[in-house]
Amino acid sequence: MKNLVVFSGAGMSAESGISTFRDKGGLWEKHRIEDVATPEAWNKNRALVNEFYNQRRKQLLEASPNAGHLQISAWQNNFELHVITQNVDDLHERAGSQRVLHLHGELRKVRSTLNPDLIYSLNGWELKIGDKCEKGSQLRPHIVWFGEMVPAMEDAKKIISQAEIIVVVGTSLSVYPAAGLIDFRSGSSKVYLIDPGDFDLHYVRGLTHIKKKASEGLKELDELLIKDAAETGA
Ligand code: OAD
Repeated sequence: MKNLVVFSGAGMSAESGISTFRDKGGLWEKHRIEDVATPEAWNKNRALVNEFYNQRRKQLLEASPNAGHLQISAWQNNFELHVITQNVDDLHERAGSQRVLHLHGELRKVRSTLNPDLIYSLNGWELKIGDKCEKGSQLRPHIVWFGEMVPAMEDAKKIISQAEIIVVVGTSLSVYPAAGLIDFRSGSSKVYLIDPGDFDLHYVRGLTHIKKKASEGLKELDELLIKDAAETGA
């Protein structure tokens, strides 16, 4: 089976009703990054930051995977599939994808403010100021904030370097280091971008842009991959 890696961003979950960040009406139009998504913000106003993520979590619990998430998990029957996502939702997992690497953390988990290795699944949507880890320190959202290290980056580079087919879905490719991940691909890999937005990615050799929403674009790509496999006997 060929090695296929999906690299997803917020547009992947847009059809599940979860807001993207930088589109018109996106989250970063309503909230300032410096107020809710940095360690400094957490130190300055924990209640505000915590409430922001509580609301995101509440919204996530009401959402379901869309046809795009389901299409990706169905590829496990035909490909060695890995999903690398910038998304903090769990919609890839709920759609059945088994190998999902989260670059920017996970909304349904929380962690100790003192020991980043003490990570817990949260029941329900609400983390309260005053909720503590087993060592007695305040719990925080398990999110990689701006200015923090991206610990999963090394694993992600390795996975992408082994991919024969790379499918980038619904990301503006504007937040580093995640956006630089495709630079670590092998030169022989094929890259597909599924996103309704405009991009200048002329420097990515072998790139095909399917300028559609995730569900529609992934369906089209599925047909293309089946046709390709039939022609090459792969
Ligand atoms: P952005 O909001 O920056 O980009 C969303 C992308 O999704 C855009 O390219 C849109 O064109 C595309 N899009 C919108 N609707 C779509 C749909 N239905 N189907 C497919 N694509 C669609 O989101 P990201 O690139 O994921 O990090 O943002 C990267 C990071 O910035 C996030 O992980 C988050 C944010 O700040 C942190 O919070 C650390």
